[in-house]
Amino acid sequence: MKETNQWSADHYNKHASFVSDLALPVVELLDPVEGEKILDLGCGEGKLAIEIERSGAKVCAVDLSEDMVEKARARGLDAHRMSATELPFINEFDAVFSNAVLHWVKESESAVKHIHRALKERGRFVAEFGGEGNMRTVVGAIEEVFRRHPEFGVFKNPWYFQSVEEYRGVLEACGFQVGYIELIPRPTPIDDIAHWLDVFANGIVSHLREEERVLFNQEVRMLVKPKLYEDSKGWHADYVRLRVQAFKR
Ligand code: BEZ
Repeated sequence: MKETNQWSADHYNKHASFVSDLALPVVELLDPVEGEKILDLGCGEGKLAIEIERSGAKVCAVDLSEDMVEKARARGLDAHRMSATELPFINEFDAVFSNAVLHWVKESESAVKHIHRALKERGRFVAEFGGEGNMRTVVGAIEEVFRRHPEFGVFKNPWYFQSVEEYRGVLEACGFQVGYIELIPRPTPIDDIAHWLDVFANGIVSHLREEERVLFNQEVRMLVKPKLYEDSKGWHADYVRLRVQAFKR
């Protein structure tokens, strides 16, 4: 997996703690059991891995960001720096869990193959990530700002938001039996879209000068504000989650 976005655990904590706070239903779908061995793929700083370990399961937590891995280790987790498309595990885990990560992986089939290989026979894969239509307003605004500013270069979209049909196809082609798959619109309160862009879209503008990055943020913010901001409610992001449970055949 190529990684261009920069992850600061502190920044993430301050502006994006909703990512793990809203994921408890996915942990419920995982339904971890004492004694199980579970891989948390894209563990971030490890909040959900800790939640999973409350069941008595043992978690191996992996993330591409060294900063996140350090934070996860500081919480006492068995954490390692690793890419979803280079998992070295073979028949090791009762379950693979992943929250808010797999939309960053363009090589979806490679990730699913590695997840399948990491699981024991009949092991389960439970995940949630951005699906078709996720952040449509924001992605549209980013495209518009790049159109307005040819000097910014070409917008390279780092995200892959798949439909139910596409992802079911990938899962089945890689040897999974799908138990559950659904696209769930989930408008999500955030503090400000400018902070969201700083945390999640910094890779898109990393080649620009500081003043161009400021302009990019201001213009995207202005474009999305009519749809994503209300005086009475504040900001929300137009998240759509793809939630999945599948079993190794
Ligand atoms: C998401 O969780 O849906 C997401 C996060 C960062 C960038 C794009 C999407």
